[in-house]
Amino acid sequence: AVQRYPVICIDGPSGAGKGTVTWRLAQALGYQLLDSGALYRIVGLKAFEAGLLGADGCQDIDEQAVLALTQGLDIVFVPNEASGRVDIIVNGDAVGEQVRNETVGGYASKIAVFPKVRQALLTLQQKMASRSGLVADGRDMGTVVFPDADVKVFLTASAKARAERRVTQLLNAGQTADFEAILATIKARDERDENRATAPSKPAKDALLLDSSCLDADSVYAQVKKYCQDKGICF
Ligand code: DC
Repeated sequence: AVQRYPVICIDGPSGAGKGTVTWRLAQALGYQLLDSGALYRIVGLKAFEAGLLGADGCQDIDEQAVLALTQGLDIVFVPNEASGRVDIIVNGDAVGEQVRNETVGGYASKIAVFPKVRQALLTLQQKMASRSGLVADGRDMGTVVFPDADVKVFLTASAKARAERRVTQLLNAGQTADFEAILATIKARDERDENRATAPSKPAKDALLLDSSCLDADSVYAQVKKYCQDKGICF
């Protein structure tokens, strides 16, 4: 029989705290971390660089061209203890922090509507679970990519709470931040991710729903860890 490794899915909108809880679970359990948003971000960034999104990221997109570009990508995640997230290596080259910014998040959300692009990334994501335990962070991990996962969590927070966190993050990094503009961007991305026809962002039927609006990272982690233990995952 094929050895099956445990899979934990953490889905939800950006800014709800998925990245932090995913990282801590992967570290505590010695599992691989799948940052599926990073895959879409890389495709979005490469598509932009190839001129497929137009100068302002808003032109009609050629799905077939984005697919071809996606198929040419070899992506590896390397855990980076100092940053508390994965470093991303694409075709042998490390990708810079740029891939994490909100502009690239918008590009990612735009190319993420294409079924062919999602299908190409699906295989790549499922392969990761054939090698070791996995903690997967995304929008459709529990619904589409790993429907048989051992644990599914859907982590949300109000758009206002997520925008406030983003403002704090930017100010702490010595940058400026416009709350209203950030809130509008977050809502636009949620709207696109939740309403696309293929693999929209939504909780799996058997997911634990957790709202982090009024919780800190430690409380979120404690609750998710407890839930994993209830589902038979041993820490
Ligand atoms: O989680 P994130 O902000 O890094 O994700 C960036 C975008 O990628 C998100 O707005 C939609 C898309 N995405 C997706 O469609 N499916 C996933 N599993 C993860 C991300």
